[in-house]
Amino acid sequence: MLAEWITYLTTPCPWPLRRLGYLDEVIGTQSRYRRCRAAWAPHLENSRQAILAAAADTPARRKVTVLGSGLLLDVPLAELAALFDEVALVDVLHLRPARRAARRFSNVRLVAADVSGVIGRLDDPGGVPPSLDLPEGDADLVVSANLLTQLPFLPCRWLSRRADSEETIAAFARALMRQHLQALARLPGGVCLITEVEHRLCKGGDTVETFDPLYGLTVGVPADEWLWDIAPRPEINRRYDVRYRVVAVGM
Ligand SMILES: C[S@@+](CC[C@H](N)C(=O)[O-])C[C@H]1O[C@@H](n2cnc3c(N)ncnc32)[C@H](O)[C@@H]1O
Repeated sequence: MLAEWITYLTTPCPWPLRRLGYLDEVIGTQSRYRRCRAAWAPHLENSRQAILAAAADTPARRKVTVLGSGLLLDVPLAELAALFDEVALVDVLHLRPARRAARRFSNVRLVAADVSGVIGRLDDPGGVPPSLDLPEGDADLVVSANLLTQLPFLPCRWLSRRADSEETIAAFARALMRQHLQALARLPGGVCLITEVEHRLCKGGDTVETFDPLYGLTVGVPADEWLWDIAPRPEINRRYDVRYRVVAVGM
């Protein structure tokens, strides 16, 4: 708790991101990772392998971009730095461990950017910009690393505090994710999309409820898929486990 508080106070973070909860969220993810490290290990390894498989299929190796690089838990950074001339790690903010990891490689750059284009505009009723160029999108390979469903998460929480209706918020979330998928599809190079496509509430070995985090959007035929035990009990609930179905898709 004390470590989280110190990180919160000492991490440079622009006010609009703090206000929306981006810093809280990434610090919370770091703490959950520490508590659930063993349960997360297969998912993180599968993600890293999916990224390396996409890199192996990329003939030109001038530049790779990782969108949603975050804590670099699912990013095979040393391997990408060895394979590509340049590695761009894009996230709204980079905590100290990620900054330290990036400094170990002369060809790795951190880019602080909003991939969605909505963070600074939530007070403006304009909604989701119809078309958006992704930061560092000129790469030979762009990886969207467990980012898609996170794009609407905090903006939607903000809108729900403003008492927007559930339908308005769901439509906004869907539009934001569709915009990301369309922007990835327009890129000139290869794309590796890693995202969860189903949330499961489980009791014992049984799934008792499922939720579609993509609000009906589809992402194409997976090259690989696996389950992520994101919150084994008692992380969120004493009786229920939360599990995600995750896919890796080449675009
Ligand atoms: C679930 S984490 C991805 C895991 C990450 N690849 C890792 O290994 O730690 C989602 C990441 O997306 C970032 N993110 C969320 N919304 C974003 C946005 N609009 N633009 C850029 N990054 C964003 C968060 O800051 C977070 O680091």
